[in-house]
Amino acid sequence: MKPIILDVDTGIDDALAISYAVNAPEVELLGVTTCFGNVTVQEATRNTLLVLEHLDSSVPVIPGAAKPLFVSRVKASATHIHGEDGIGNTLTNMSTREASKQYAPQFIIDQVRSKPHQVTIITVAAMTNLALAIMQAPDIVGIVDKVVVMGGAVTRAGNVTPHAEANIYADPEAADYVFASGIPITLVGLDVTMETLLPKKDVQVWRDKQTALGTLLADMTDFYIDAYEDFYPGIGGCGLHDPLAVGVAINPDFVKTKPLYVRVDLDGFHSLGRTVGDLRSKPAHEPNMDVCLEVDAERFLEHFLSKVV
Ligand code: BDR
Ligand code: CA
Repeated sequence: MKPIILDVDTGIDDALAISYAVNAPEVELLGVTTCFGNVTVQEATRNTLLVLEHLDSSVPVIPGAAKPLFVSRVKASATHIHGEDGIGNTLTNMSTREASKQYAPQFIIDQVRSKPHQVTIITVAAMTNLALAIMQAPDIVGIVDKVVVMGGAVTRAGNVTPHAEANIYADPEAADYVFASGIPITLVGLDVTMETLLPKKDVQVWRDKQTALGTLLADMTDFYIDAYEDFYPGIGGCGLHDPLAVGVAINPDFVKTKPLYVRVDLDGFHSLGRTVGDLRSKPAHEPNMDVCLEVDAERFLEHFLSKVV
């Protein structure tokens, strides 16, 4: 079992990623660290605890950064996509479980140091927690197994702006700091996550199970699919952004990658937060990450659906 840490801003697709990670036998979830993004860090922590309660999982939830490293550019509320509460307006009760008293960056440092060359960190939110961890403990760069990042769009349009993807835009400086740190990265961007769409018919299967978990995930995912239909008329499903990052950590064969040098545009007026990949035949720098450019959506979806509920 591969030890993983999942860094989230729960969020509907984050909730699906958590459920997938808890249920997949290939990985051992050491902890879920939370960050701002889709919602505030407090709301992300609350939503994460609720999902884990439905999974009957005692995996620790460790709150992290409440704001970006330098500049707050976005309001932590993607209500049009994720609902007022971040989980499709399904929040009717609070979990009775409590979050850890630790701070997410410290948790990341402790786990990586205690299991050298083993831990995979999966970030599916703003990258602030990981950036803070590396600033405080640069040695983790050389002893983490790898980092799988859901973020960016190297070969296609952004989602939160014409050029930028939401997780990178939420804290571009943090993302760029991590990209430049030398830590081994696999980038799971919109390049591939927009190819893995979940239609309503699959969600109905979860509902038909008549379990608390199936109903909760079905209710929030139906909201998410409706929001996608509003945003991208005719798309026929929602993007499984965060679950695909977990899928790639479980089985790198779900995707084809290319080694590229990628940095984040930090001063572009129209393109702030864009992940700029050097796609030239003779790039000026050595690659700093593997960028996912193709996905076997069918095989990934089959695995995801067999585990998530
Ligand atoms: C990413 O942004 C968030 O809204 C989602 O949870 C996902 O992590 C997609 O751009
Ligand atoms: Ca997310």
